[in-house]
Amino acid sequence: MLGRDTVVGVVGAGAMGSGIAQVAAGAGHRVVLADADSAAVMRARDGLTKTLAREVEKGRLPVGEDAAVRSRITFVDGVNDLGAFAACGLVIEAIVERLDMKRALFAALESVVDADAVLATNTSSLPIAAIGGGCRRAERVLGVHFFNPAPVMPLVEIVPSLATAPDVATATRALVDAWKKTTVLASDTPGFIVNRVARPFYGEAIRMYEEGIADIATIDWAMKTVGGFRMGPFELMDFIGHDVNFVVTRSVFEGMSFDPRYRPSVTQQRLVDAGWLGRKTGRGFYDYSSGGSTPTPMQDGLLAKLIFDRTIAMLVNEAVDAVLMRVASPRDVELAMTKGVNYPKGLIAWGEEIGLATILDRLEVMHAEYGEDRYRPSALLRRLVREGRSLLA
Ligand SMILES: NC(=O)c1ccc[n+]([C@@H]2O[C@H](COP(=O)([O-])OP(=O)(O)OC[C@H]3O[C@@H](n4cnc5c(N)ncnc54)[C@H](O)[C@@H]3O)[C@@H](O)[C@H]2O)c1
Repeated sequence: MLGRDTVVGVVGAGAMGSGIAQVAAGAGHRVVLADADSAAVMRARDGLTKTLAREVEKGRLPVGEDAAVRSRITFVDGVNDLGAFAACGLVIEAIVERLDMKRALFAALESVVDADAVLATNTSSLPIAAIGGGCRRAERVLGVHFFNPAPVMPLVEIVPSLATAPDVATATRALVDAWKKTTVLASDTPGFIVNRVARPFYGEAIRMYEEGIADIATIDWAMKTVGGFRMGPFELMDFIGHDVNFVVTRSVFEGMSFDPRYRPSVTQQRLVDAGWLGRKTGRGFYDYSSGGSTPTPMQDGLLAKLIFDRTIAMLVNEAVDAVLMRVASPRDVELAMTKGVNYPKGLIAWGEEIGLATILDRLEVMHAEYGEDRYRPSALLRRLVREGRSLLA
């Protein structure tokens, strides 16, 4: 169905689309890359030329391979005529995150490509079932969710909807595996794996800050020194951008029918309201302007342990609950968090190392103390502790 000869179409030549085009062309495919905005096409063409040349300079691509990869990509200016995609066996959509626009594009693409072509969406937050719902052949539609930057981040979530034919998911996963990506299979649920399981990393940090348990610099320091995370939660949110991070939190919260476990914070809402979006605007939780001061963490080992213990309990609970709700297999949850967001360990393995009974105990203490459903332990966590069972055995 799909193979090395498959021509790959990519619609949307922004940050994600141009990265995905580079991955597919790098794996030897002919690629058609289009965008509604001709300036975006031009930026993608220049950007890819520079990126590929840098890969050669750094010795990551053989000399001349940059031109070869580049020559496999056809840049299409404007998408009024989708005819350029007629020969594509796989089209990956990476346009703006709007359901109406994605649905319209998929319906139009369907009338251009062959009946057995696969239509994939890179959406982060929209239901795959809703995007495929506007198609006559929804069984050919699925989610193929890359992480930013696509050529660098190894993880790709493969997300079939309830309408996707199993062989479409299998063939697409095999193709993306052949691109030397790490694929995981996720169910069509809010946030898929990574954007769901990672929520407490941000949410619990903000909650501790709101309660005055510690300041942002101390929480970041704690998560890096005790947890071994590459960036602290506040640094990471500033890096991602509060507009983006807040939208993901809100969409998971709404998608989960307002489950309090995913409730967005007023603090982050206010940063968005104020236009303090993080590094890109020079101000987020931290001040990035010249002369801006950098707060010093309180290097208190006991406080750091409390911060880490509370966050890791919430993260492990979320990972175990994702398995309970069949969002993904335990193995894929582990891969998703280590390969998609660079966590130092898989969360289930981490929980088992700490002791699932200890994790459960911490959650029960918080649940009793706050009386909030946010801290409720997953039924699967209770079951595993009761039965002394491992999810990874
Ligand atoms: N940026 C990320 O970190 C990230 C990660 C994973 C997934 N995603 C998802 O990938 C998709 C694209 O995100 P991005 O960050 O690359 O956005 P972007 O804004 O950088 O690029 C989107 C591009 O799509 C073009 N476009 C808009 N409507 C179009 C249409 N109807 N036809 C053709 N082109 C159109 C725009 O001109 C723009 O160049 C979104 O669905 C987003 O949720 C983003």
